[in-house]
Amino acid sequence: MTKVQVLSDKSALIAQALDLIVEKIHSTLKQQEYFTIALAGGSTPKPLYESLASQSLPWEKIHIFWGDERYVPGDHPDSNQGMARQAWLDQVSFPKENIHPMPTSSNDPSLDAQTHDQELKQFFGVKEGELPTFDIILLGMGDDGHTASLFPKTEALTISDRLVTVGNKDGQPRLTFTYPLINQARCVMFLVAGENKRPALAEIFAPDADETLYPARAVQPQGELIWLLDEAAGAELKTATE
Ligand code: 6PG
Repeated sequence: MTKVQVLSDKSALIAQALDLIVEKIHSTLKQQEYFTIALAGGSTPKPLYESLASQSLPWEKIHIFWGDERYVPGDHPDSNQGMARQAWLDQVSFPKENIHPMPTSSNDPSLDAQTHDQELKQFFGVKEGELPTFDIILLGMGDDGHTASLFPKTEALTISDRLVTVGNKDGQPRLTFTYPLINQARCVMFLVAGENKRPALAEIFAPDADETLYPARAVQPQGELIWLLDEAAGAELKTATE
């Protein structure tokens, strides 16, 4: 089920994302022992992470992952892990074992992707061939329609037998969830703000377009798909629930 919500501005988008995530955490923890969320990188979600830091939540029951990561150390200014730690994770009392960063220290991105693939399988206790099911996967979208580190016309788009692979942004390696893992989620939530995202959104919501040119289009989870847009990005897309 797809839901598109166009909010008046970025702060309204962040407030709505916060409400939806907090509600899902509480409702999920009534049914299961812990809650799993994969974070998006980039700049859009930072105020959301800062808002989450001021919530009173059962941090010991929440497990944090990332949908993609730049291939840099965790304390590098470009690190998605570093941004989330500074904005949220280091500001509250998460048990260390609840934070599962993508490894980026072996100098071999493929090896680190395989390592994280195994870490995910172990954590979720899935058998070979089974896919872990995240409660929420947060995603952003670039001006070019990429999401996570699934960039247009790259090999990462074709990987269907692994959970994690090596993405490629202008020759720079990144680690990224693959489509099968993303599409297994109970809920995928896109956070997209700014007029510069409008052209890619038009292609993604067009009746047909080349998914290899606009990778976010191929995110079609078995669970809920929520697009939270600000007016600047989504003015031409009405609120629609398919
Ligand atoms: C990253 C992200 C990437 C991001 C988009 C949007 O590692 O940069 O995972 O997919 O979400 O590029 O970035 P902004 O939120 O900065 O526009």
